[in-house]
Amino acid sequence: MIHYKELGFVNTREMFRDAMKNGYAVPAYNFNNMEQLQAIITACVRSRSPVILQVSKGARDYANPTLLRWMARGAMEMMKEMTDKPIPVALHLDHGDSFELCKACIDNGFSSVMIDGSHLPYEQNIELTRKVVEYAHKYDVTVEGELGVLAGIEEHVVSEKTHYTDPNQVEDFVKRTGVDSLAIAIGTSHGAYKFKIKPGEEIPPLRFDILEEIEKRIPGFPIVLHGASSVLQEYVDMINRYGGKMENAVGIPEEQLRRAAKSAVCKINIDSDGRLVMTAIIRKIFAEKPSEFDPRKYLGPAREELIKMYIMKNEKVLGSANKV
Ligand code: G3H
Ligand code: 13P
Ligand code: ZN
Repeated sequence: MIHYKELGFVNTREMFRDAMKNGYAVPAYNFNNMEQLQAIITACVRSRSPVILQVSKGARDYANPTLLRWMARGAMEMMKEMTDKPIPVALHLDHGDSFELCKACIDNGFSSVMIDGSHLPYEQNIELTRKVVEYAHKYDVTVEGELGVLAGIEEHVVSEKTHYTDPNQVEDFVKRTGVDSLAIAIGTSHGAYKFKIKPGEEIPPLRFDILEEIEKRIPGFPIVLHGASSVLQEYVDMINRYGGKMENAVGIPEEQLRRAAKSAVCKINIDSDGRLVMTAIIRKIFAEKPSEFDPRKYLGPAREELIKMYIMKNEKVLGSANKV
């Protein structure tokens, strides 16, 4: 057992308390490789933002769980060299789908886990979530549960349409599971194609009415928004300009995310925007310099652009900049 405190991580409890009090959301950025991890830490240190480093099951399979853990640990050491005032960093399992996976992460230095039982029948979701909470809390690890199903793909579970969170269930779910935060479905979805809209049509707004109803039922309880990339059009355009094909890629408008961040939404999950930035810059370099074959020459600029994008998110969308 390696406890997260030995590695310098924090759980999400204090982060969410501060975010709730001061009307912002903590960024939860996914990483799968060194360049993404460097960019996230660098951007959050430069903009003085707390951050949640997110690792999905897919990321563990891709990069190797042991290597990922050591990379995250290395990032904490790197941070100490960057600043005298370390920022709070949580290491979080994104979309954990079993007790065993959550336990493996808790036993290996994660400070927070998500158990996603949202696709299960209600009572089974409660049972699984509760089991994870009981184990996690023994080690002061915080747990995120989920109620409602986002449209799109969630860890191989595909849903054609959103099954909005039912506000009538949230109080019971939170009480009976003991979770520390709750992911809800109010119209966001994973990936770069969040809405099927025809040219000229408006993006349907998030269901703030459901969010407000949820806030009334569980006042002051930290809410999490998944699928919250805005699918930055400048990078979609760049991808298409340099040989890519991403038609009708569309995300959540920034002003809606800003509004959510000021509410009980304390954690905003962003993965796709990082993928778009990397892909756009690499495509541009490949198109403009076809003879380039040193990975540092295209991964390095992609990393620089990621840093800029994450700082922009912290400053202009989540409001988490200059909070630590
Ligand atoms: O919610 C999903 C995240 O974007 C992680 O995606 O499972 O492809 O790593 P992934
Ligand atoms: P996006 O696909 O909108 O970036 O959502 C990421 C996410 O929810 C990770 O859990
Ligand atoms: Zn998600």
